[in-house]
Amino acid sequence: MPSEETKILLRESELPQRWYNINPDLPAPLAPPIHPGTGKPLGPEDLAPIFPMELIKQEVSMEPWIDIPDEIKQVYKIWRPSPLHRAHNLEKHLGTPARIYFKNESVSPPGSHKPNTAVAQAYYNKQEGVSRIATETGAGQWGSALSFACCLFDIECKVYMVKVSYEQKPYRRILMETWGATCVPSPTDTTNAGRKILEQSPDSPGSLGIAISEAVEDAATHDNTKYSLGSVLNHVLLHQTIVGLEAKQQLKLVDEEADAVIGCVGGGSNFAGLAFPFVKDKLSGKNIDIIAIEPKSCPTLTAGQFRYDFGDTAQLTPLLKMFTLGHTFVPEPIHAGGLRYHGMAPLVSLLVDQKVIEPRAYHQLSTFEAAITFARTEGLVCAPETSHALRATIDEALKCKDTGEEKCILVNYSGHGFFDLAAIERYLAGDLQDHEYAKDEVEKALAGLPEVAEPTS
Ligand SMILES: Cc1ncc(COP(=O)(O)O)c(C=O)c1O
Repeated sequence: MPSEETKILLRESELPQRWYNINPDLPAPLAPPIHPGTGKPLGPEDLAPIFPMELIKQEVSMEPWIDIPDEIKQVYKIWRPSPLHRAHNLEKHLGTPARIYFKNESVSPPGSHKPNTAVAQAYYNKQEGVSRIATETGAGQWGSALSFACCLFDIECKVYMVKVSYEQKPYRRILMETWGATCVPSPTDTTNAGRKILEQSPDSPGSLGIAISEAVEDAATHDNTKYSLGSVLNHVLLHQTIVGLEAKQQLKLVDEEADAVIGCVGGGSNFAGLAFPFVKDKLSGKNIDIIAIEPKSCPTLTAGQFRYDFGDTAQLTPLLKMFTLGHTFVPEPIHAGGLRYHGMAPLVSLLVDQKVIEPRAYHQLSTFEAAITFARTEGLVCAPETSHALRATIDEALKCKDTGEEKCILVNYSGHGFFDLAAIERYLAGDLQDHEYAKDEVEKALAGLPEVAEPTS
């Protein structure tokens, strides 16, 4: 019998000592990143100008477990192990026989899961003598996480923030500045990539694809500067697996095993961080539903194609095989800014293609409704990205109400929404709309993708 505890806590001494690398356990090999100039798979030397070598090694590692250095664990202990909560009040409100658990990643200083990789990336950069890091941010969660991490490791940090979020969320910018970083609205007129966009559309709201172009260009054109990405890449997902590894230990403490694991997906990192340790069990025969939730206005997994594409708008990044809507597609400026990305982590994409992960898409109004239900039952106010995962969690629990199934549902509570209250105000006032994605724009963006022959090994 599962115990009835509300908060399941681990001691600091129980912090996982290693990250889990899913790469060697995949049901099919991961297609390599391709150099857009040569059309050949990338070598470590191609990535060395923008990433420290230790992260490049992690990106291609086939070791199933990678030790977490002591210095990183020491910083993690500021907020980790994070609590696992049982959502008793939500269960009662829904009248469901399901048991709902949420892993609370909002307790980190910047308020989301993002510091799990930001701290690791800042540490490896510092080890290799890097003094400045450039990055992009959508909703501002990643930018603030990296600003926090750089501050702790005494590294200068420059953040290109998607313009629409920069305008919607001034407090995120102030948070970055509090930790000593510089934050600018993207597109800017200080990079070639930004100027090109502004020439074509002076009122561009920006997008993650554009901001990535600017940050990569910044790193390539400044001394002792590297680039850092908050999602998508293998090493980022690797660092996030601490979330799922802790959650597994916590569920065991209350005699539970997850029947469904749910997370929202922007680039795929919080979802993968929670889900991959459970995907490992699923691949060895356990029956677990692993569900990735995206916005209907940026339906990468449910309406995109699984093929090689650039990670950014200006085509500066390597080509990655992933689900994509096309790198020139600019999604509607919905409030879940962190989910407005045309692509998806290659690891998550492959597992969706292999039908190990099930993708679903929701409109924003239904996700805000879920966020309000959660706030009024559990008390916590979530980020608009997280509300997508909560929507699916509530729907799964309601299905259990219909069928009588007593499922154990685990969801990643990826971040709080204290800096997103303006969006909630607009929702409560009835000022928000649902957006259908522009099918013709996606078709155009996909038609412009390069034809890349997948290398045979
Ligand atoms: C709170 C929160 N959840 C989820 C995401 C989506 O990113 P990812 O898919 O990498 O977890 C973001 C991105 O900014 C975020 O801020």
